[in-house]
Amino acid sequence: MTIQPTNSALGAIVQDIDLSQTRDSETVSELQNAFYEYSLLIFSDQTLTEDEQVCFSKHFCNPEPHPTNAKNRGARPEITIISNTDDGALGNAEVHFHADLIFLPNPGTVSILYCAETPTQGGDTYWTGNSTAYNVLDDDMKQRLEGLEIAYVHARPEYNPPEPPRHPIVLTHPDTGRKSLYFSPNHAKWVEGLSKSESDETITFLTHYLTQEKFIHCHHWQPNDLVMWDNRSTMHRRDSFDNAQRRVMKRTQAVSK
Ligand code: OGA
Ligand code: MN
Repeated sequence: MTIQPTNSALGAIVQDIDLSQTRDSETVSELQNAFYEYSLLIFSDQTLTEDEQVCFSKHFCNPEPHPTNAKNRGARPEITIISNTDDGALGNAEVHFHADLIFLPNPGTVSILYCAETPTQGGDTYWTGNSTAYNVLDDDMKQRLEGLEIAYVHARPEYNPPEPPRHPIVLTHPDTGRKSLYFSPNHAKWVEGLSKSESDETITFLTHYLTQEKFIHCHHWQPNDLVMWDNRSTMHRRDSFDNAQRRVMKRTQAVSK
């Protein structure tokens, strides 16, 4: 197995490994360390059944059925279909920058997308490196953001808990102890305890700061790619694509406890 960091603010490409096979504990801990180090791992040429994807996911998290989407399940309940076909979620539209399930009190941790079919154009996915972005923030701004929390709401009312959850902007990763900017422009409503104008200003700052080109890694999908990311230290968005073509992904995810 080889693990090659990308030239971006996050991510590594992992080669010479067959994810359908059982792995020894040394390989598993190498993969776990790389995942914590780079927040985004990219594999290609994988052939995986749903069982095998769930089994692989368990090295990094406890995959569970999607907490808000029960309609787009695979044959295994832990699998969610992300596609523009009848049985899938998200259609063909652009999806703006977000962190998965941040609108829940127990938000998303690890998400894993396995690609079955891709359009010839569009549908690329982009991730931001939020711990790199935190590290290079000036000390004054680090101090201003420390201790602040943001309230998050999903656009679909039926997905939301009775009260919007508040999550810290400066998040210390529970497994690595590293700090990152935990944020989702798509769902951020207000910064707790600030005036409306200060709150809006903070949300606008985070949105522009984190989505700068220098913090982004883009992935152009091929069938049989598998990409996994850590929602506590990244955000992601994806391009729209032509609905006359098919894009089909199988997803596993976990939420915090
Ligand atoms: C997701 C998601 C983006 C994509 O599954 O959480 O945002 O590229 N998918 O389909
Ligand atoms: Mn997502």
